[in-house]
Amino acid sequence: MPEVTMENGDGDVPEIVVERTLALIKPDAVHRAEEIEEIVLESGFTILQKRRIHLTPEQTSDFYAEHYGKMFFPSLVAYMSSGPIIAMVLARENAIGYWRELAGPTNSFKARETHPDSLRALYGTDDQRNAVHGSDGVTSAEREIRFMFPDSIVEPIPAGMVARDYLARAVNPTLLKGLTELCKQKPEDPCMWLADWLLSNNPNKPQVADRYAVQEPM
Ligand code: CMP
Repeated sequence: MPEVTMENGDGDVPEIVVERTLALIKPDAVHRAEEIEEIVLESGFTILQKRRIHLTPEQTSDFYAEHYGKMFFPSLVAYMSSGPIIAMVLARENAIGYWRELAGPTNSFKARETHPDSLRALYGTDDQRNAVHGSDGVTSAEREIRFMFPDSIVEPIPAGMVARDYLARAVNPTLLKGLTELCKQKPEDPCMWLADWLLSNNPNKPQVADRYAVQEPM
C-alpha cells in the first residue's frame, strides 16, 4: 500500500494524511459485529461514529444507486434491507485503501482463496452476502458518510501546522485546566477522573438535546 503523504509547507518532513471511510457490517455479519470491531481497532482504525440501522428497500436503492441496472441489483437491495446493518465512520492514514484491503475481494469464495485473513474470507458467505462494505474512493466516502450520518460535518481532518494551531487554540487551554485540577484533586483513577472532567467541562458541548434522533439500540 503506498504511503500517503502531504507537504507541510515548512520543510521536507512528510506528513501522514488521515482519511475517513464508511464501513458497513452487512446483515449476515451483524451477529459477529463485536469480533469485526475488534479487528477494526487492532488494524489501527479509530471508529469515529457508529450506528445500527435498518434501511428500507428505497434507502438501500439510493445508497447503491451506482449499481442500478446490474443483474444483482434487486437481490442486493432485498438482502441489504433484510435486517439491521452497522454503519461506522473509520479514520486512519489511508483509511479507504486499508479498509478495502482488510475487507478483501468482493466475492467471499475468492477471498477465502486469495486473502484468507480478510474479513470477507472470515465472515462472508458468497459474492453478495460478503459481510462488509467499504467506500471505493474519496468522493464516494464523503457521499456515503453523509448518507448514513446526515448530521455529521465532513471536513478534512487537520494535519501538520493546521492541526497544531487547532490544538493550541481549541484543545490545549481546556486540557491544561483539567490537568491542573487533576493535580490538585489527586483522584484514585486519574484517567476516569479526567474523562469525566472533560465531559462536563467541554466548552463545545452541544447546548440542545438530541431529541429527534431515532436509532436502533446497539
Ligand atoms: P459492496 O462492496 O457492498 O458493493 C456492492 C455490492 O454488490 C457488493 O458488495 C456485493 O454485496 C454485491 N455484489 C457485487 N457483485 C455481485 C455479484 N456478481 N453478484 C451478487 N452480488 C454482487
